[in-house]
Amino acid sequence: MAEQRVLLIVGGGVAAYKALELTRLLRKAGIAVRPVLTRAGAEFVTPLSLSALAEDRVYSELFSLTDESEMGHIQLSRSADLIVVAPATADLMAKAAQGLAGDLAATTLLATDKPVLMAPAMNVRMWEHPATRRNLATLKADGVSFVGPDEGAMACGEFGEGRMAEPAAIFDAIMARLNDGPLKGRHVLVTAGPTAEALDPVRVLTNRSSGAQGFAIADACARLGARVTLVAGPVSQPTPAGVTRIDIQSAREMLAACQSALPADAAVCVAAVADWRPDEAFGVKLKKGKGGPPVLTLVENPDILATLAAKGADRPKVVVGFAAETNDVEMHARAKLTRKGCDWIVANDVTQPGVMGGADNTVMIVSKTGVERWETAPKAAVAMKLARKIAEDLA
Ligand code: C5P
Repeated sequence: MAEQRVLLIVGGGVAAYKALELTRLLRKAGIAVRPVLTRAGAEFVTPLSLSALAEDRVYSELFSLTDESEMGHIQLSRSADLIVVAPATADLMAKAAQGLAGDLAATTLLATDKPVLMAPAMNVRMWEHPATRRNLATLKADGVSFVGPDEGAMACGEFGEGRMAEPAAIFDAIMARLNDGPLKGRHVLVTAGPTAEALDPVRVLTNRSSGAQGFAIADACARLGARVTLVAGPVSQPTPAGVTRIDIQSAREMLAACQSALPADAAVCVAAVADWRPDEAFGVKLKKGKGGPPVLTLVENPDILATLAAKGADRPKVVVGFAAETNDVEMHARAKLTRKGCDWIVANDVTQPGVMGGADNTVMIVSKTGVERWETAPKAAVAMKLARKIAEDLA
């Protein structure tokens, strides 16, 4: 396979030092890195460090005679398979969103016809500012993908969202964008979050699912190179880089979205689908009245997991369900495996401290052939292990 090439734009922020480690990881993986260092970026890392690690010269000036005669900015913007901006500062995001072209980095972003991945890094207030929110939405609508930012302590002493993603995470996102991982060429369908079942135009029946584990699984599959369709109920999770997200409200909408996303190589049903919905969604808001509170009649929702797992030409090769149990976890998971007709059940004991709404998860994988017990790990690590297991099974 021809050498893959990344054009790495390094913006001016403290996180620029992480761009050096990212460059090292990319080179180690045999990926060519051509660095563009902004003037502000050069205040944080030196052209010499970047050039030494990239094993290429560093481009910085739009109006440099030598830069332009060696490789013009148009050619620079087209000579890569992927453009990565790390750190993507508030300034660089604003310039790219507006289509400004006052320096080499901005001009390159405007002139390119290649996919762009940004790793934002800025102070939490800057990240949350309505201007940055607008720019983020514009860039997303323009097809730019994002990795991070993470939440944590910042160099400026504040705490919050805005820290640049770690080099390993940016590396994974790059590999996914370059479509080079064990799930390369595969399509994975993931359901996540709750469903909301309308009672009238303003009221819904729903549950407290955050969508965290499902979004982490979609992210992990994309990082391993899969094309991922994520069918999500109402949650406030950011869309993982490179993932196609379809937002739905009800279980019936979720089922329809899943069915129209088929064929898929694997389906992972993580959503907390409402078991029942009101038999009738009233067209106007129900009012308090003399008759007392309304009596709700509920009807059963379709089972998305069981429907996807049913035999048929469109059945994904690997169908995975989830089970949250409070007792006899393995026994209940086995019963669910048979009832739903899926290949694996990822089961956890939700009475364990920290599982519900927490950062970690302790799961067992129940299949026809046996049980695997996984050690307690962060949800992202559980997601990656599951994504790798799916890749092995599809190989
Ligand atoms: O026992 P329960 O039906 O809640 O099983 C949970 C598993 O089934 C999860 O994987 C969940 O995503 C899936 N499910 C579904 N559609 C439903 C109910 C549950 O896909 N209507």
